[in-house]
Parts: sequence; structure tokens; C-alpha cells
Amino acid sequence: MLCYTIPDITWALTVIDLIQRAAKDLVNSSYAIALTGAGISTESGIPDFRGPSGIWTKNPEAERRAYRSYERFMEDPKGWWEERLTSPSLLGDLEKAEPNPGHYALVELEKLGILKCVITQNVDALHEKAGARNLLEYHGSVLKLRCTSCTSRFRQDEFDLENLMRENQLPPHCPRCGGVIKTDGVAFGEPIPSDVAHQSPEEAWKCDLMLICGTSAVVYPFAQLPRIAREKRIEKETKGESGLYIVEKIPAVTIIEINAEPTPLTYERISDYLIQEKTGEILPKIVEEVKKVKR
Ligand code: APR
Repeated sequence: MLCYTIPDITWALTVIDLIQRAAKDLVNSSYAIALTGAGISTESGIPDFRGPSGIWTKNPEAERRAYRSYERFMEDPKGWWEERLTSPSLLGDLEKAEPNPGHYALVELEKLGILKCVITQNVDALHEKAGARNLLEYHGSVLKLRCTSCTSRFRQDEFDLENLMRENQLPPHCPRCGGVIKTDGVAFGEPIPSDVAHQSPEEAWKCDLMLICGTSAVVYPFAQLPRIAREKRIEKETKGESGLYIVEKIPAVTIIEINAEPTPLTYERISDYLIQEKTGEILPKIVEEVKKVKR
């Protein structure tokens, strides 16, 4: 006989209830978007930053160095590139990483016509690899380079960076405007590229459901997006006891968090509810439930 302690049963019930609730909310939404962070990629073997075994958690010195990276690039782009091409990435070999069931579940929600856009902080290109179509890479992509003047983006293989280094020709320059080329990943203190900086708040304002997956929600300006959505109100008319109609302004957006731990969005009640579980396990279950509800 299997015996359960009360919390287990409560846990089991609660998570199933929340999965069913999230599925209903998604099916009832007319413009759902997803926001993602490093947590959605940990099940692909890429460490996050601030989780219990995060890169910054384990190596605060590396975080302090990362805070100076953009300054160093602006001061000495040639030296910055030489260091970049000769030292290993903190995130490991991202190009070998593969999407996990969490990434694919979001692609399925997009194919079902429910998810209209994914805005990610991740530079690992796993949403793109999974087949996401309407994708905003808010902090850039490891697969791309970007001109710091005209914001044109290029695939890494459009430049022979090793050869440029051998021939002392670093930094690479933009073939369109002559500007200095940098990796597309946005460093601390670096301005968010204008295209995603404009499109992302527009998506946050347009949505009526925001699914936030695997982020500690402490890095700005990205962490402002849920607050923009929470600001949005719609008018609801209800008949008062007196028979008179009352017009109320009610929240227009449902905000769902899926994260291994609560975040400021949870504590400040910016989100409506948190499913405190792994994205790679919960998102596929939500898709299954959505398909049942839609049937
Ligand atoms: N499922 C759900 N949540 C997870 C999982 C998982 N499999 N793995 C980790 N988490 C949670 C962690 O507990 C943590 O709360 O995901 C969150 C990841 O938070 P961060 O490590 O802070 O990552 P993120 O929010 O994406 O960081 C934002 O900070 O360092 C910069 O530029 C970097 O884009 C990054 C930005």
C-alpha cells in the first residue's frame, strides 16, 4: 500500500489543478505571449545565473567581471574581441545545446494559434532551434553578431573572426555602415537593441495572458514587461444592488508564472499564480490539457 503524507496529496492536487487552470486560461485567451529566462534552458544542460547552482550564485567574481564587459568593449573593442575569441564561454558550448520539452511545448502552443509571441532573455538560441516563429531575443543571440551603430545583425559565420585575429584586423566592421561589430548578446549596461526594445513593451501591452517561464524577474528593463501588462485595465459593467450599473476597471491580463522558486512577481502579486515546478515537466502537461479543453 502506498501511503502519502498530506503535503504530497496537496502537492499532487494543487499542481494538477494549476495545470488545468492554466490550460483553461490559455484556451480562453485571445492574445497570449510567453516570457522566458535561463530557467527554461537548465533542462538542456545550460546553467542559469541566480538559481541555487547558478553561474553568478557560484561565481560572484564572474558576475562582477560581467558588469564591466560593455565598458571594456567601448574602451577597447579590439582587446575585448581578442579576449572573447581566446577564453571559454561561461555558459559552456551553447551551440551544442538542444531544446528541451519546455521549448517545444511553447512551439506547440504557437502552432495551436494560442501563443502569439515569445520574448526571451536567453542568448542560447534554443527557442529558434525548437522552431519558434514569432520570437524576440531581448538580450540577443549567441548565433548572431550585431553592428553597434546600425543594429544590423549577421550570422557568426558571415565573418572569419579567427582569421581577422590572425591578421590583426579586429574588431570586425559592419559591411553596411562601417560601424563596430559586437556579439549580439546584450551585456550589462548595454542598451537593449532598438527593435526588441520597442516591440517587447508593445507585445506586453497587447496581450491578455502572459506566461512567464524560468526567470528570477530581477533584471531590468525586461522585468518591467510583466508590470506593463499588469497596469492594463478593462472596464467591466456590473449591476449594483440599487439596480444602477457600476463600471469597474479590472485587470485585463492573466499572468502565470512557472518557476522553481517564487520571484518578486509572486510576492508583489504581479502574477496571478505560480506553478512552482520545472518548465520542462509542466509546459508539456499544460499543452496536453489545452488539447483536451479545445476538443
Ligand atoms: N524550471 C523552472 N524554473 C527554473 C528551472 C526549471 N527547469 N531551472 C531554474 N529555474 C529558475 C531558477 O530558480 C531561477 O529563479 O529560473 C530562474 C532563473 O533566473 P536567473 O538565473 O536569474 O535567470 P534570468 O532571469 O534569465 O536572468 C536574467 O540576467 O544574468 C543576466 O543576461 C543574463 O538574461 C540573463 C538575465
